[in-house]
Amino acid sequence: MGKNTRKRCKKFRTWAPGKVMLLGEHAVVYGYSCLSFAIDKGVTVTISKEESDRITSDVADTRFTIAARETFRHYFSQHSPVSISIKSDISGFGLGSSSAVTVAIVSAMMGIHGIPWSFDTIFEIAYQAVKSVQKNASGYDVATSLYGGMIEFNGETKKVKQLPVSTFPFLVGFTGYKADTSQLVEDVSQKRKANKEAVDTIFADISRLVDNGKKALLQKDWVSLGKYMNENQQLLEHLGVSTPVLDAIIKRVKESVFGVKIAGAGGGDCIIALIKKKEKKNTIKAMEESGAKNLPMTISPKGVHLI
Ligand code: MEV
Repeated sequence: MGKNTRKRCKKFRTWAPGKVMLLGEHAVVYGYSCLSFAIDKGVTVTISKEESDRITSDVADTRFTIAARETFRHYFSQHSPVSISIKSDISGFGLGSSSAVTVAIVSAMMGIHGIPWSFDTIFEIAYQAVKSVQKNASGYDVATSLYGGMIEFNGETKKVKQLPVSTFPFLVGFTGYKADTSQLVEDVSQKRKANKEAVDTIFADISRLVDNGKKALLQKDWVSLGKYMNENQQLLEHLGVSTPVLDAIIKRVKESVFGVKIAGAGGGDCIIALIKKKEKKNTIKAMEESGAKNLPMTISPKGVHLI
């Protein structure tokens, strides 16, 4: 096998996790902090050097794939053609498939070009790529996919604090329909333009819930954490990102849990419930009866890595 052939055959395979937002969505876009965690479901990317560019993906939206590839190329002035293959088990749920794809591609592109990984650099490139598609993104999903585990993400400095939380009693339910994150972020921005004081007050209140929620989470004080999640949900309803379907699911699930809220942009996608272990079966039943599908998952301690 000649040297060039060997080079072309070289493959890099990375896995990057999806994410769930525990507290602080939307406010994080305006510089506040949020709490989110990586999940044991995600995206596998395989990259090899080829004669010409090729993308095979089971994620319908290839905008993030192209943005990740091109942002990497621009950043490192590396333009050799590559084949990118993507397999995702989180596509279409609002569980961070786009950011996981972006993080996994940038990491694998660095690998195949022999560039040592630095989380700061991967974040910089992946965040720039995500923003080229979704203008007002905070970057929390990129950071969660990169670092894994439970993180506190600062929307202003983009700094990440990894929290010592490997598990907690939660369930995630899918409403059955995918939301348009960019549109929801834009709706909130319009609402803020029309009523800056009221919306900024909501963000400041959400920020207090994130601070208090972090303390409750670290102390395993589920009663308090559940209360903060419910309050966060009310504020999101005031922001206008909940929907009648989400409201109905949340109302029904709330009967058996410590707290429940939307788990991301709103408008559809998923809910997260902080559950009472003894009530788990009832909560799953409540989810299903109200039209949400229970998506079994755990926290992934690992962020992006080679497989
Ligand atoms: C979406 O998962 C969370 C938002 O805060 C947007 C973002 O932070 O990029 C609505």
